[in-house]
Amino acid sequence: MADLADAIARLAPWFHNLHLPGGVETAPDHFLGDFPRFKWREIAPHLPADLAGARVLDIGCNAGFYSFALAARGADVLGIDVDEHYLAQARWAKAYLGADRVAFRRASIWEVDRLGRFDLVLFMGVLYHLRHPLLALDLLASTAPGLLVFQTLTHGGEGVAADAGADQGFTSRHRLEDPGWPRMAFIETTFAGDPTNWWIPNHAAVAAMLRSAGFTVEARPAHEVYICRCGKPAADPDLEAAHRAAVRLEARTDS
Ligand SMILES: C[S@@+](CC[C@H](N)C(=O)[O-])C[C@H]1O[C@@H](n2cnc3c(N)ncnc32)[C@H](O)[C@@H]1O
Repeated sequence: MADLADAIARLAPWFHNLHLPGGVETAPDHFLGDFPRFKWREIAPHLPADLAGARVLDIGCNAGFYSFALAARGADVLGIDVDEHYLAQARWAKAYLGADRVAFRRASIWEVDRLGRFDLVLFMGVLYHLRHPLLALDLLASTAPGLLVFQTLTHGGEGVAADAGADQGFTSRHRLEDPGWPRMAFIETTFAGDPTNWWIPNHAAVAAMLRSAGFTVEARPAHEVYICRCGKPAADPDLEAAHRAAVRLEARTDS
C-alpha cells in the first residue's frame, strides 16, 4: 500500500481521479469532484454496453480514465496525448490494472488522419486547447469516425438564435450580439492560469461548428457533452494545406 501511495505521489499532479483496486484514488481532492467518474456515469448509458471488436480512439486521453472504461466494455483502445506527464500516468495505470486492450501513444490530434479508422472516437476537453479548433474538427471528420463523443469547455447559456444559420444583411450586425449567436471567446494569454487555452465557445457555436464539420448531434448526455454521428465531411479544398500549416504552428507553440 505504501508503494502504491509513493507511485501515485511520484506521478502527481493528476487530472483524472482513477479508482484503483483496494479503494485507492489518484486524485481524491480533485477541484471538480470525482472527475471524470461523474461525467462518465452520465455518458456511459448512451454508448454500446458491448464494444467487443470495436476500435476506439481517445484523443487527449490524459491518465486514461475513459480508455480504461471503454476497454472494460471489450473495445481495443488507442489513447493519444501530447503530454508525457499524463502519458506516464496512463502507462503506469495500464500496467497496474493489467489493461491489455489499451495502448497509449504520444500523438496529437493533428496526426489523427494517420492513425487509421475508428468505430468510436472520444474528443473530450481538447478543442479549447487548440489554436485551430475548426480545422481539428474538419480533420477528424475526414477520418469518418463511426461515433464521436465530443466535449469542450463553454461559456454562456444554452440558447441558439433562430436565425443563427441564416444570411444577415450588412446592416444587421447587431444580430451577432444576440446571446444565442454562435461565438467563441478568444484567449490571447491564459485562462485559469493555463496558456494552452485558446478559445471558449458558447453552446450555439459548438452546435454550429459540429454541423459545419459534418457531424450530427444525436444526444447531449451531460453539460458540454455531445454524442455525434459523422455524416458527409465539409468539402474543404484547403484542408490539406491548412492541416500542414497547423502542424507547423503547433510545433512552434509547443517549443
Ligand atoms: C482538459 S484535459 C482532458 C482530458 C480527458 N480527455 C478528459 O476529458 O478528461 C486535455 C488533455 O488534452 C491533451 N491535449 C492538449 N492538446 C492536445 C493535442 N493537440 N492533441 C492531443 N491531446 C492534446 C492534454 O495534454 C490533456 O491531457
